[in-house]
Amino acid sequence: MKALVAYMSSTGNTKKVAEAIYGEINCEKEIKPISEVEDIAVWDIAFLGFPTHGYGPDKKTKRIIEGLCTKGRKVALFVTHAAPENEPEVAEWMTKFKQAASGAEVVGFFDCQGQLSKGTKLIMKIAPNKELRSQAKRDNSKGQPDQARLEKARVFARDTMNNFRP
Ligand SMILES: Cc1cc2nc3c(=O)[nH]c(=O)nc-3n(C[C@H](O)[C@H](O)[C@H](O)COP(=O)(O)O)c2cc1C
Repeated sequence: MKALVAYMSSTGNTKKVAEAIYGEINCEKEIKPISEVEDIAVWDIAFLGFPTHGYGPDKKTKRIIEGLCTKGRKVALFVTHAAPENEPEVAEWMTKFKQAASGAEVVGFFDCQGQLSKGTKLIMKIAPNKELRSQAKRDNSKGQPDQARLEKARVFARDTMNNFRP
């Protein structure tokens, strides 16, 4: 049994979740940035992690997910976003990640809040788009993912591995 954890992360949030997941896997395993992954065929299961960019996966991310998530592959996705998990539109954004991965068998999904970087927040605050300005104002993502969220990621990893049949 071999498991891969691969992630994309500009400011470290998704990487933190990736490391929490990796720590819970008790078989042969590897963790690396997704840029170093060409094919996931050699892994029985691949945990693939991404930040939300523009209400879902951005174009490049979507291409990467579609390229890796092909027939016969088994993947568990994890995603971070600055919006709180329970905001209704977040479910919609997460569906876009699942859709991009639907060429593979998606055996698990986890998402959690990740701190909006100061730079991005600053840009949003002065954006012409009113909705972006309002989102920057409402932002409550500081310090995320915190220990409680990382613990949820660990539980997700354990459950996914326990239920997994290669
Ligand atoms: C260009 C850009 C677009 C983003 N778009 C969204 C978004 O649509 N919704 C959201 O909740 N967060 C959005 N975020 C925030 C990130 O998804 C969030 O901070 C994430 O945890 C960053 O992960 P990372 O540190 O692994 O890169 C955006 C961030 C950037 C830089």
